[in-house]
Amino acid sequence: MVVHTPTYDGFRKAVTGLGRELRGVPVGDAEALERELARPDSRMLLLCSPHNPTGRVWTEAELTAFAELAERHGASVVSDEIHADLTGESHRHVPWTRIAERGRGRRWALVTSGTKAFNFPALSGSYGIVGDPDEREAFVRRMETGEGSPRPPCSR
Ligand SMILES: Cc1ncc(COP(=O)(O)O)c(C=O)c1O
Repeated sequence: MVVHTPTYDGFRKAVTGLGRELRGVPVGDAEALERELARPDSRMLLLCSPHNPTGRVWTEAELTAFAELAERHGASVVSDEIHADLTGESHRHVPWTRIAERGRGRRWALVTSGTKAFNFPALSGSYGIVGDPDEREAFVRRMETGEGSPRPPCSR
């Protein structure tokens, strides 16, 4: 799984906890991103948008480029947008759904939560949007069968 570095430590734990390898790419290094996504066993770009800890708010052009790279190399994109409400007036957050509705990126999920904006940490305030109906179904099934949170409030 490819992530921008420096990275939120929860990403590191989630990726390695799933038995996956975390491949770091410095924020802003487009060449390294392409190189890592091009590795045949790179399966996912785990995006932090806006980026924690640098505070970078990705532009629509940058996000579109990520989508194109991921698509070219057969990687899916999971966009963690938990900090989206905190960008202020000067930087406009562009949700991954915008990129997807413009036909970019085939396999994607947007995951987020009200926890940062409203300060109630924990998974119960989180939600996700999964682009592909089969993957959405598979995700909900995994949550319901105990691989996710103990009592997931899942809906289709
Ligand atoms: C990018 C990112 N995702 C997820 C989380 C987890 O949020 P919570 O505090 O609601 O568990 C954090 C927390 O800092 C974060 O920075």
